[in-house]
Amino acid sequence: MRNIKYIGCDDAELDLFESQYILPDGMCYNSYVVFGEKQVAVMDAVDARCAHAWLNKVEEAMDGRTPDYLVCQHMEPDHSGAMALFLEKFPQAQVLCSKQAVVMMQQFGIAAKNVQIVAEGQRIDLGGATLQFIAAPMIHWPEVMMTYCAEEQVLFSADAFGKFGVYHADEDDWACEARRYYFNIVGKYGVAVTNVLKKLADKEIKTIAPLHGYMLEGEQKDEALRLYKIWSAYGVETEGVLVAYASIHGNTAKAAQQLAEILKAKGAGKVAITDLSRDDMAEAIEDAFRMDKLALCCSTYDGDIFPAMHMFLHKLRLKGYQNRRVALVENGSWAPQAVRVMKEMLAGCKHVEIVEPTVTIRGSLKPEQTAELEALADALLAK
Ligand code: FEO
Repeated sequence: MRNIKYIGCDDAELDLFESQYILPDGMCYNSYVVFGEKQVAVMDAVDARCAHAWLNKVEEAMDGRTPDYLVCQHMEPDHSGAMALFLEKFPQAQVLCSKQAVVMMQQFGIAAKNVQIVAEGQRIDLGGATLQFIAAPMIHWPEVMMTYCAEEQVLFSADAFGKFGVYHADEDDWACEARRYYFNIVGKYGVAVTNVLKKLADKEIKTIAPLHGYMLEGEQKDEALRLYKIWSAYGVETEGVLVAYASIHGNTAKAAQQLAEILKAKGAGKVAITDLSRDDMAEAIEDAFRMDKLALCCSTYDGDIFPAMHMFLHKLRLKGYQNRRVALVENGSWAPQAVRVMKEMLAGCKHVEIVEPTVTIRGSLKPEQTAELEALADALLAK
């Protein structure tokens, strides 16, 4: 990339992204400079936590020039948090953004006086480097746009193709943290992602430059595009089953573990198991979307379901979980209710088939109930 320089910032100290997603390797907020012969554009600001480090990088990258434009592809504060300081430091810079982004600037208290709204397909020639804007609404907010630089064959993809982690985290395995990021953050907007992928189909893309994670080229870029087509269509990436359990005293957990072993023995493909009370729920969400089948094992609790399962199903609904087969196991000593409640919650998900018969445990799984788990596994794997 002759005319593009990376000036993003790592935030290795942040514990939770969006105050909810665990960050084992921190996070990065990417920003780039596109140098034309006539003009210079900075692509996106960063989170306020990195504002000063980023402004120093901008200044250093300029090498005596001044930025003519700040392109604002996405107004979420992890990218707009440092905008106000940038505009104070470089008051001549014009902000290029979508119409909705202008409203959001006001909402976030960013006083940008010099703003140009750019439309779908509009081009700005910096002099040998052209920025073409591509509307990308709902990836992951309505004001989002992407930007294509034809001379460099670079797609600035906003949140799309992003991942958790500092810039150099997991450089040999993009998918693991990109998948967790996608399904938990962008997953609800699969139709919007599919629409943008269609718009990008005729573009020569050598490099994808996202707002999080590292830049993608070559085989990694091709694989990322392949996975995004599957993910955005709610397709199956991996044949298999996620067994997710919410257990109070360990008996429901034992049933879940036994069901997982039965599924493996029956050749279910990949079988993952997660304790919804203790494991990273964002990983569980990711695995639920990744695989084609789900088995839920849950204790009854106060006439309802155990809170960890309630949260999991609530999040699955929020994120648009669909097109899957689900098996249910409930536990309840005197009035089992978990299957009823799980069915009610899953009714809010499109094209989710609950396989029958469901299994009811009273306190603990009895040896003679192994046959019931076998039958449930057979029903789940029947298609
Ligand atoms: Fe990276 Fe939707 O913000």
